Amino acid sequence: MDYKYLLQLIIANLNQGLIVVDVNLNVVFYYEPSSDIGGISPEDAIGKSIYEIFYELKPETSTFAHVIKNGKPLIEYVQCYCNYKGKRVCTVTSTVPLIEDGKIIGAFEIYRDFNQVMKLSKKVFSYDKDKNIVKGSNELDNGTQYTFDDIIGESEIMYELKEKAYKVANSDSPILIYGETGTGKELFVQAIHNASYTRKNKKFISQNCAALPSTLFESIFFGTKSGGFTGAKETPGLFELSNGGTLFLDEINSMDYANQGKLLRVLQDGIIRRVGGTNTIYVDSRIMASVNEEPAELINKNVLRKDLYYRLNVIYLVVPPLRERKEDIPLLTNKFIEVYNERLGKRIVGVSSKVMDKLMNYSWPGNVRELKHTIERAMNFTDESVINCISLPNEYNEFSKEVNCSNYLCSENEYKPLDESVAQFEKQLIKKVLRETNGNCSKAARMLKVPRQTLFNKVKKYNLNCNKK
Ligand SMILES: Nc1ncnc2c1ncn2[C@@H]1O[C@H](COP(=O)(O)OP(=O)(O)OP(=O)(O)O)[C@@H](O)[C@H]1O
Ligand SMILES: [Mg+2]
Repeated sequence: MDYKYLLQLIIANLNQGLIVVDVNLNVVFYYEPSSDIGGISPEDAIGKSIYEIFYELKPETSTFAHVIKNGKPLIEYVQCYCNYKGKRVCTVTSTVPLIEDGKIIGAFEIYRDFNQVMKLSKKVFSYDKDKNIVKGSNELDNGTQYTFDDIIGESEIMYELKEKAYKVANSDSPILIYGETGTGKELFVQAIHNASYTRKNKKFISQNCAALPSTLFESIFFGTKSGGFTGAKETPGLFELSNGGTLFLDEINSMDYANQGKLLRVLQDGIIRRVGGTNTIYVDSRIMASVNEEPAELINKNVLRKDLYYRLNVIYLVVPPLRERKEDIPLLTNKFIEVYNERLGKRIVGVSSKVMDKLMNYSWPGNVRELKHTIERAMNFTDESVINCISLPNEYNEFSKEVNCSNYLCSENEYKPLDESVAQFEKQLIKKVLRETNGNCSKAARMLKVPRQTLFNKVKKYNLNCNKK
């Protein structure tokens, strides 16, 4: 058997890209089933440095450089970069050093398109889900119900967030997730748990810290030993229950300040002791925590301990509010129509263009949750195949009044001077955006696409207030 031919045949049938580099990171072998990922032909790639082909990569971000430096493989690593043609691509790669006589002489990397891997994982999860439908519930055995498949959103900001979240699924580092109410934090933490190879078969335990009586903190988190105090039973705490899995501390900022200190100690040592017990127990729970206000503000207000924040903030995810990703509204709307068609036994196919305009122009303070409930409400009152009417809270109407030119462009049938009308409009618009950003000037400037200083000047001019942090 001709081994060279056999090897070529295997590579051609592998359906994965393969790059081999020498110790100086120059390409010595290059194969790709379709040239969509690297954006370069093998003839052009050979002899070029990896940094020449993927010009965005640096020694700190290149998997090849990392592997050659450390001599250890990097397996199933998600990386995104601009390819030779300048197109942004994401791949799942495994990079392995080539060692000859104990010396590193280069490295090889096999890679697949990240989207293909996502599709595959969706298939696996839909298989899991089918099993669950038979059980009559979406609930998976590990206590979760969401996977990445359930997170609707194709906007760039959501795509990047999903990619980042997927990338950290197999790490053990704590995650701090920030997002306004209803943005989908719970979906993300559950999806991360379910995308982890090792933890997904273990429990996902969620504790809402706002609902936690502070006096019961220790018994709930650390468990109790029988006889430890009057009436105590032998019960494991949340750390033991989530051992090997994930412990999600929802609204961590609502936890009592002193208890946050106790929690920090466990996160540092990985050791607990049941209340009334003497034995130390090692626990390995991946910690994820959520906040629905910016952490810096929570620290300033003294409701989140700084030291705990530093411990949790190893991986920081921000779920953007819906008003900052309006392109996702049609997708989410259709998804919710699908969901409620099934639940309510209806056959609604969509919303009218007028209703869609309304949905697109509303600021959604309650985010995706509010959109979901709005669709549910409208569907209950719709007997036709299209939703023609939708009711939104006053804010929408208020804003439409504010920006409805007829309100102030004319006074007693006479047009006002243009600069006066424009100024009035500008003031109302800035006021609205500041309301949406809770007075955060930087955010408002970003949303209005003006330099921060310009916004400060206008805020001053119109006698408004904003937070200059
Ligand atoms: N991207 C999304 N795709 C589909 N559904 C979503 C998405 N984001 C949120 N939802 C839906 O919106 C609702 C609220 O989501 P979730 O509970 O994750 O929000 P949250 O950020 O945890 O809010 P809170 O801070 O109030 O707890 C859920 O019913 C969820 O199914
Ligand atoms: Mg939540």
